[in-house]
This record gives sequence, structure tokens and C-alpha cells, in this order.
Amino acid sequence: MSDPGTADNRPLLAGVIGWPVAHSRSPLIFAHWFAETGLDGAYVRLATRPEDFAQVFRALPKAGFRGVNVTIPHKVTALELADSASPAARAIGAANTIRFDADGQIHADNTDGYGFIENLRDGAPTWNPGAGPALVLGAGGASRAVIHALLDAGAPVIRLTNRSRDKAEALAAHFGPRIVLVDWAARDTATGDATTIVNTTSLGMTGKPPLELALNDAPATALVTDIVYAPLETPLLAAARVRNLATVDGLGMLLHQARPGFRAWFGVSPTVTPALRRAVLGGG
Ligand code: ATR
Repeated sequence: MSDPGTADNRPLLAGVIGWPVAHSRSPLIFAHWFAETGLDGAYVRLATRPEDFAQVFRALPKAGFRGVNVTIPHKVTALELADSASPAARAIGAANTIRFDADGQIHADNTDGYGFIENLRDGAPTWNPGAGPALVLGAGGASRAVIHALLDAGAPVIRLTNRSRDKAEALAAHFGPRIVLVDWAARDTATGDATTIVNTTSLGMTGKPPLELALNDAPATALVTDIVYAPLETPLLAAARVRNLATVDGLGMLLHQARPGFRAWFGVSPTVTPALRRAVLGGG
């Protein structure tokens, strides 16, 4: 698809670059959208070692790529190598969606926070992030995107807790006074009057221990969500459901974060549907 007024004859080619990248479900998402939109596109996995990343990344526009998604461990380097970056990518300090313009310019974006918020708006339409404090567990890369998105969406306060306090302190310094640090050992008490409770740690993932979080103090109106999507219902979400709290699973964040890339590269806005969820889950 060409941009209006420009002669962009490049193939509809994009991919995901990471190390490892074999587990990535992004190719399933793009295959579904290509079939749905009728676009004759291709989306490939680019397994690239860290020491090779800069060279491979810079060569992709010359190989005809319109863009790539970037995953671990390259998200920070991709931002550094780009010619320009969106406010979200700069605020988060990492890029997950790269656009290669026809003239070779590299533009970095980060759509993880967008995907996080869109997933909650989709799964819990009455959720109001501005209604009260959010509790964010974890202070890794995903946490940075979630915090940025929650602040942008109007969360008045974010209670941030992490096993290693120094990482939470670094995020508080970066994101400013709306971040309030909570000791990892005191995280249960931080659920009181929370509007939004988010697990951004890897706890609860298949093969990892569950996240221990008592929800007794959480208000009946709290929304509980998890960025872990394998399993779809993590122990945290199961515990929230037993308490009749609203829950949204993490798969939708993965699906929604892919939409801006598809639109930027191919000029069509794809949608997140039950059929897409089935396609991504069924594909393993
Ligand atoms: P991502 O980019 O997906 O956020 P990450 O940067 O490796 O991944 O961050 C993983 C998060 O899970 C961190 O907050 C980590 O806590 P530490 O900063 O203390 O390492 C958290 N995490 C992982 N295993 C954990 C465990 N067993 N107990 C508590 N937190 C854990």
C-alpha cells in the first residue's frame, strides 16, 4: 500500500527482531491481519544476537523492510539507533515499534503502554484510571511502559513496589512525584483503595512461582490485570475473580500493541477480535 501522494513501491514486509525470538507470537497476529485485510504482506522472525544487532537493524531498510517490532534484549538499543522517536518511546526509554521511511529514516515508537491501556478499555469499559491510585508490582521494562501509560491516562498516584527496591527508586526518580514507593514486604496493604492493580513481574507465568498478593483490602471496584498471558488466567487473576473483582488478562496488551505498527507500515488499521485471540492462542 502506498502513502497518498508518494510512490512507495516497497513490498509489504515487516518482522520482529529479538534474541531469542522463536517464541514470539507476533507472526501469528500479523498473519491473521494479512488474511483479514487481504493485504499480500509478509512478517518474519529475525533472530539477531546482541553483538550483531546494530548492523542488522541498520540494514533492514535497505532490505526493503517497512518496519519491525523489537523485543528482548534490543528495545533500548533500537531507540538509541533511531533517527527520531515518539514521546512515548522517549518517556519509556525503549522502542518496540520501528518505522523505516522510504528515504531510510528510522523512527522509533513504543506502543506497549498504548496496548496496555487499550486492553483495559476493551476488557473493562467502565474502568476509570483517574478514579484512584494504581498499584504496580514490578520495575522492569514492562513496568516502565505501564507506568507511563497510567500516568498519561490520569492515574493520580502510582504505588510502585518491587523486590529489588533500587529499581523501583530509579523509576520513581524518572517518572516523578506521582510515584509512591511501597516496600515489597508491605505490598498487600497497598491494595487498599486502589482503582487499578497491575502485575508487571514475571511471577505467575507458566513455570514460575505465583505472585503472592493478598486482595482482602482491595475495594470491590478495583480492576486487577496481569501482563503475563501464559497462562491466560494467572493465579493473581484467579484470586481476583474469586473475590468478584473485575479482571482483564494480559493477552490483549500483546494484541493491541501490534496495531500501531500494522497501521504505520501498511496504512490499514487492524482490529482486535475474538478470532484474533483464538488464532494467537491456537498457534501455541
Ligand atoms: P520485563 O522487561 O518483562 O519487565 P524484567 O526487566 O526482567 O522483565 O523484570 C522482571 C520483573 O519481575 C522485575 O520487577 C523483577 O524483580 P527484580 O527487579 O527484583 O528482579 C520481577 N521478578 C522476577 N522474579 C521475581 C521473584 N521471584 N520475586 C519477585 N519479583 C520477581
